[in-house]
Amino acid sequence: MSLKKIYSSLPNSIKKKIDKLSFNFSHNIEEDFIFNSKVGKNYNLSTNDKKKIAQLLKYSISNIDSATDINIHFLLLKSVLALNPKKLSSIVECGVFKGATSVVLSIGAKITERKLILYDSFEGLPNGEKNISRRYYPHLGITGSYKKGMYAGTLEEVKSNLLTYGHLDVCELRKGFFNKSLIKHKEKIDLLFLDVDLVSSTKDCIFYLWDHLVDGSYCYTDDACDIDVVKVWFDDAWWKKNLKIKSPGYIGSGCGLPITSNFSSLGYAVKSPNLKKYKNISWLEKK
Ligand SMILES: C[S@@+](CC[C@H](N)C(=O)[O-])C[C@H]1O[C@@H](n2cnc3c(N)ncnc32)[C@H](O)[C@@H]1O
Repeated sequence: MSLKKIYSSLPNSIKKKIDKLSFNFSHNIEEDFIFNSKVGKNYNLSTNDKKKIAQLLKYSISNIDSATDINIHFLLLKSVLALNPKKLSSIVECGVFKGATSVVLSIGAKITERKLILYDSFEGLPNGEKNISRRYYPHLGITGSYKKGMYAGTLEEVKSNLLTYGHLDVCELRKGFFNKSLIKHKEKIDLLFLDVDLVSSTKDCIFYLWDHLVDGSYCYTDDACDIDVVKVWFDDAWWKKNLKIKSPGYIGSGCGLPITSNFSSLGYAVKSPNLKKYKNISWLEKK
């Protein structure tokens, strides 16, 4: 019997386990982070340096209550390390909770000599959205609702986590609800990370920060599976009205970037990518 036949005759639960194992084997995010020589090359990081950083990431996530997982942390840090060492702007995170992803970004900010600006109410989510009574994650068949005050981490807790596991000295923590705190934002941004759960919060972040994002830069979000949040990235009418541009779209809509075998919570939008840097391909005409 061929391997394929054996595989197809197995119960679904065993198939799922095999799929997961083989996916982890071929898509191991941690190994890619450590052994891919391109990761951190711009900042002269050796394999040994990256091994130490990987230990630190694992240690911090095992100690900080987080709404994200270690694979997301490796991917975010990899993206920070890909930033241009000659053109320095700031890294911005909106949606901090207890600071788990902030620790990761602070490690990246320290290495790349950038400032990390952290925006949060530091008292959890604002009032939920009346018109979205239940969240809708169709790819996962998941639903439920958000409540005011969920994901609360105080300023002191976050500072203490940054001090213990990351680099508080490169961070600026800005407290307040986004519709107030983001108004005064001035710094150019070359990596933006939104983990804000709500459609209204996502819109506030885009409205106040998109113009500050440098062309070609990435805005990652951790809400890739929530269809109502994802829709914002394709809502041409909203983008035209508020930012006078077409919506940028969103990579990972509904199921996230392919970093685990079934789904991930991470996706991204790119601001005005430079198509001159894109490759031509055989199935498309060169213009
Ligand atoms: C899911 S948690 C962030 C998780 C975090 N990135 C981690 O690594 O665990 C969402 C965060 O967004 C914040 N938030 C959402 N909407 C907000 C708003 N309109 N103004 C300020 N903070 C907001 C909440 O306070 C909460 O800390």
